[in-house]
Amino acid sequence: MKIVVIGGTGLIGAKTVAILRQGGHEVVAASPKSGVNTITGEGVKEAVAGAQVVIDLANSPSFEDKAVLEFFETSGRNLLPAEATASVRHHIALSIVGTDRTDNGYFRAKLAQEKLIAASGIPYTIIRATQFMEFLGGIADSSADRNIVRLPPILFQPIAADDVAASVAEVALAAPRNGIVEISGPERAPLNELVARYLKAVGDQRQVVSDPAARYWGGRVEERSLVPLGEARLGHFGLDEWLRRRSQARA
Ligand SMILES: NC(=O)c1ccc[n+]([C@@H]2O[C@H](COP(=O)([O-])OP(=O)(O)OC[C@H]3O[C@@H](n4cnc5c(N)ncnc54)[C@H](OP(=O)(O)O)[C@@H]3O)[C@@H](O)[C@H]2O)c1
Repeated sequence: MKIVVIGGTGLIGAKTVAILRQGGHEVVAASPKSGVNTITGEGVKEAVAGAQVVIDLANSPSFEDKAVLEFFETSGRNLLPAEATASVRHHIALSIVGTDRTDNGYFRAKLAQEKLIAASGIPYTIIRATQFMEFLGGIADSSADRNIVRLPPILFQPIAADDVAASVAEVALAAPRNGIVEISGPERAPLNELVARYLKAVGDQRQVVSDPAARYWGGRVEERSLVPLGEARLGHFGLDEWLRRRSQARA
């Protein structure tokens, strides 16, 4: 089976490509570096020709509200019609738990991406994941003022990239749901506490302060804005195990 992974060189993309190749599938890791650009349209038609499955794991180079919305809308408008022409049988995209529950600009862009997929007529599955563990440092940076990191004590349930890639690969080989599945890490705790544990473990001296009025990447969030509200598939790695594996890999 030919499977195209758009964003196949990224954090989740590279891991997903490796899992699917191990399973003996013909996998194209597509990205601008390999001449496939969903913004300019370059190489898109050629990449998806003959593919049964397309997995979209591309990400915007800019997280600025307008730029990210433009990225996911333009990308969907170039990619989905090419897939329809190629009679692709399953389109998979990775979105975020709670895209419809905050006014965060990045989430709004992902919701726009989801809507284009649902309207495309191509059989699809949207996977909504919670935040990646690999993203915890970025969250601290986004909320830092010198030595102080101000974060709201909302519930948080991050997932390891390895768990995300395993779920993406499994979904890609199953029948399309024509709907949404949610995945998250196994451990739920306040955002400020998880980020504080992460910073301590990596030797980052910054102090995390719990601030109920603090925003998440500029967006208003409530207690349950970022965690699955219903059934979700849980990954294997909690924060401690993920940190242990991470330090082992770096040793
Ligand atoms: N971060 C989170 O916590 C989180 C949570 C849930 C869902 N997600 C979603 O997960 C997905 C994957 O994220 P990630 O962290 O793995 O991304 P990433 O590591 O930043 O990788 C982005 C990928 O997109 C490719 N790309 C960039 N511009 C492109 C273009 N114009 N055309 C085609 N490909 C392009 C890059 O290719 P090059 O290597 O060639 O530049 C790269 O392969 C994203 O859609 C994101 O919204 C993220």
